[in-house]
Amino acid sequence: MSGHSSYEFQNGFLRWLDSRLPLPSMLKGQAMDFPTPKNLNYFWTFGGILLLCLVVQIVSGIVLAMHYTPHVDMAFNSVEHIMRDVNYGWLIRYMHANGASMFFIAVYIHMLRGLYYGSYKAPREVLWIIGVLIFLIMMATAFMGYVLPWGQMSFWGATVITNLFSAIPIVGKGIVEWLWGGFAVGNPTLNRFFSLHFLLPFVLAGVVILHIWALHVPGNNNPTGIDPKSPKDTVPFHPYYTVKDGFAIVLFLIFFAVWLFYYPNALGHTDNYIPANPLVTPSHIVPEWYFLPFYAILRAIPSKLGGVIAMFGAIAVLFILPWLDTSRVRSGSFRPLFKVFFWLFVFAGVVLGYCGSQPPEGSLVLIARVATAYYFLFFLLILPLLGIFEKTKPLPASISESVLPKKKAATAEPAQA
Ligand code: HEM
Repeated sequence: MSGHSSYEFQNGFLRWLDSRLPLPSMLKGQAMDFPTPKNLNYFWTFGGILLLCLVVQIVSGIVLAMHYTPHVDMAFNSVEHIMRDVNYGWLIRYMHANGASMFFIAVYIHMLRGLYYGSYKAPREVLWIIGVLIFLIMMATAFMGYVLPWGQMSFWGATVITNLFSAIPIVGKGIVEWLWGGFAVGNPTLNRFFSLHFLLPFVLAGVVILHIWALHVPGNNNPTGIDPKSPKDTVPFHPYYTVKDGFAIVLFLIFFAVWLFYYPNALGHTDNYIPANPLVTPSHIVPEWYFLPFYAILRAIPSKLGGVIAMFGAIAVLFILPWLDTSRVRSGSFRPLFKVFFWLFVFAGVVLGYCGSQPPEGSLVLIARVATAYYFLFFLLILPLLGIFEKTKPLPASISESVLPKKKAATAEPAQA
């Protein structure tokens, strides 16, 4: 009976259940009393926001699947039918399409938070690696979902991306035909993408449980990067962070609602309102905005195989990040040089996103190459070297010490006024 709290519940039913299946005491220990650093800022609310995004996508997706038809002759019309005929179908569909964008906004903030505060460092390497796995599954799910409305961008996006595998020597062509289930993107492709697009979010939910499990072994990192040293450095998760996360979720939902109700098509491509036509190639094939930086890396390398390796390498490098950063100081707040390179990295990501959205012509080719080079240099050269040469700022003695002076100043001000 080890591993769960010895809490005695007042409620008779909970006591009865707990002695048979210790779920109530597990939740009490892990979701309510869990000691959480008292200095977490709003960037720590994005984990909870991501959980909400996953639920929104699963619930809206299940309703969409009730009215969608995964057949090349009917898919496009079935989506129009959802938009026009199904009660509140437009709402569900726009919620799902924009929900994917919200999911990626939140995940990019969540990952950059981890990068800035060194949350990937020991003892949280496995937590980070599970996160990268989640990111990969999210990308595969979103890619296959975009194919389902069977518009022009769906078809041509699927054609371009699946064709990338043909760059693999000898077996490439075989792999692509195996993926398609035929000799071109067609009905078997659409059908299997629908099947996998339905399945993967549930796999994601399972991996997210592992992610949170791996979080609850070492506990949260925090903006100072210093481990809690005494009970004074932490507060129970409930009510402190349930309230803070709840407030952040409300703000996030308002942001989501603005896109959903006022600009529902702004994040999509107009060509996807034209039914897929294998005989007409759109003048400019672009993926969804959240794939653009990776698309730019793919096109930045002159050879097709090189581009494919660079694109997958850009994600693969994240798996080994915990061992590339050699600095003994965890949080970027105390690393003056790291901060500069971190913001340059964010800038390079935005530049790559822009380059990915434009035709690869003129000076943009060079800009995309420089940004791609910086992306890899940041991980493979700058982070390992910074750990050796950077002079870091002195760390506070504890989490409590890092927050107390600020509090004093805040209470002193009104008294002076
Ligand atoms: C479906 C997607 C995801 C969900 C639902 C999720 C959920 C969570 C939650 C609830 C937390 C604790 C609260 C917080 O720190 O914000 C957390 C922490 C964390 N996540 Fe995620 N996550 C997701 C994706 C990712 C990805 C893609 C990465 C990195 C590649 C990642 C890396 C981390 C790290 C390093 C922490 C520890 C942060 C710390 O304590 O400083 N997560 N995640």
